[in-house]
Amino acid sequence: MKLYNDNPTLDKKMLPEDKQGDVFFKEQLQAQQQDGQKRFYIESYGCQMNFSDSEIVASILQEAGYASTKYMDAADLILVNTCSIREKAEDTVRKRLRIFDKLKKERPGLLVGVLGCMAERLKAKLLDEEKLVDLVLGPDAYRDLPNLIATAEDGDKGINVFLSREETYADISPVRLSDSGVTAFVTIMRGCDNMCSFCVVPFTRGRERSRDPYSILAECQDLFDRGFREVTLLGQNVDSYHWEHPEGLEQVDFADLLEKTALIHPDLRIRFSTSHPKDITDKVLINMGKYENICEYIHFPVQSGSSRILKKMNRTYDREWYMNKIDRIYELLPNCAVSSDVIAGFCTETEEDHQDTLSIIEHSQYSMSYMFFYSERPGTLAARKYEDDVPLEVKKRRLQEIIRLQNQISFAHNKKDIGKTFKVLIEKVSKRSEDDFAGRNSQNKMIVFPRENTEIGQYVYVKVTDCTQATLRGHLVPAPAEA
Ligand code: SAH
Ligand code: SF4
Ligand code: F3S
Repeated sequence: MKLYNDNPTLDKKMLPEDKQGDVFFKEQLQAQQQDGQKRFYIESYGCQMNFSDSEIVASILQEAGYASTKYMDAADLILVNTCSIREKAEDTVRKRLRIFDKLKKERPGLLVGVLGCMAERLKAKLLDEEKLVDLVLGPDAYRDLPNLIATAEDGDKGINVFLSREETYADISPVRLSDSGVTAFVTIMRGCDNMCSFCVVPFTRGRERSRDPYSILAECQDLFDRGFREVTLLGQNVDSYHWEHPEGLEQVDFADLLEKTALIHPDLRIRFSTSHPKDITDKVLINMGKYENICEYIHFPVQSGSSRILKKMNRTYDREWYMNKIDRIYELLPNCAVSSDVIAGFCTETEEDHQDTLSIIEHSQYSMSYMFFYSERPGTLAARKYEDDVPLEVKKRRLQEIIRLQNQISFAHNKKDIGKTFKVLIEKVSKRSEDDFAGRNSQNKMIVFPRENTEIGQYVYVKVTDCTQATLRGHLVPAPAEA
């Protein structure tokens, strides 16, 4: 599972960072390529939603007659799907744009386009002041890509950053980025209405809207029929998924959607991300317990452990409320793993607030966390109303303390798994050894084991014998009698 690009806690071997800047490429698209056919090259940054959007973009470009390439030198069109979540994410993209700009100078006619979350924020700057790009498209404008390419080919700049209230790309069948053909992302909603005061997403991705459940189910069924064995339902806030039949005949909430997806086939695993703590219901937790193929793992970002800071962040829950929710999760799903996002050094954060964050991490016993220091984003409520007053060294020191604690908890969490047997979906060959496979258990932990006579895409049982902070190690065992 690949997420954000500046997670300092993660082992680069298996974690989000190595996917940042990933190039979308499909062998079969290249194989079909004919002479003279135009080629696109796309890099993706940011969260899973962006990676999933790149698959939609690839599908739109394929329809328009483009083939994909993994070599930017061979491309007629270079696209970069961008992230604005923290300053560092934007800096990374800017560096890439300078490299593409050099290529443009060497190869007149080459088009460069910016997609995604930086598009809305920086449209004028990118096109006019920095003159680095020919195309700028926001996350709701991808259908317009072929038109805008034509405009840019005529020498005009192509721009569409219109944010829609309806667009869900429900009818577009994404071209899959996944190398393995085992796991896939399925976007179930777009945008976010939460307005957490630190966050740029509501501005870059617009209003929240839920996709028609039947198009979601059709996509998941199709993936299963093509051999995929795991889908991750994606949205900024999946628990507020809500769909109503246009004639009022049916309403579907997130718990219903989970159940319907689980019923496609017992061998199709379901994951989801992200859950805003305020929206998760007992109905969701109960459905998770009811179906073995809904994975027992919840990404449940706390952000801070201090009620005063949470209020300033506009998270709408306080410390006690969050801790009660965590207790409820473990009460209804004793084997569930919970992970989190944590921000160190938000505006006005004191040492006492920081201690509250450390203690809520301890209370929550997260299997892992994505941890960041606060980065002020222009236009957000925090940028307009609060002073970014925690010095950088203090933010960094607090972040290090958070990371140290989480690492200890992750290690202890993994040690508790030694001696246990888990059902594992095999995803890939281990990066460290050709003789080993790697796959995840229901709790989203990566387990490495000698491959013997097994295959990618198969479910196996693995007994854990050893662990590091990030990975479990084990060996194959026969299926337990009750499985
Ligand atoms: N929708 C998801 C998170 C999306 S952004 C949710 O609400 O949980 C992913 C994470 O980036 C956030 O959870 C937060 O921890 C972090 N983040 C967002 N804005 C940030 C900022 N301005 N500075 C530092 N971290 C930030
Ligand atoms: Fe950002 Fe909050 Fe929406 Fe998550 S829920 S995307 S943190 S505004
Ligand atoms: Fe980044 Fe946009 Fe995702 S800002 S984290 S790519 S929603």
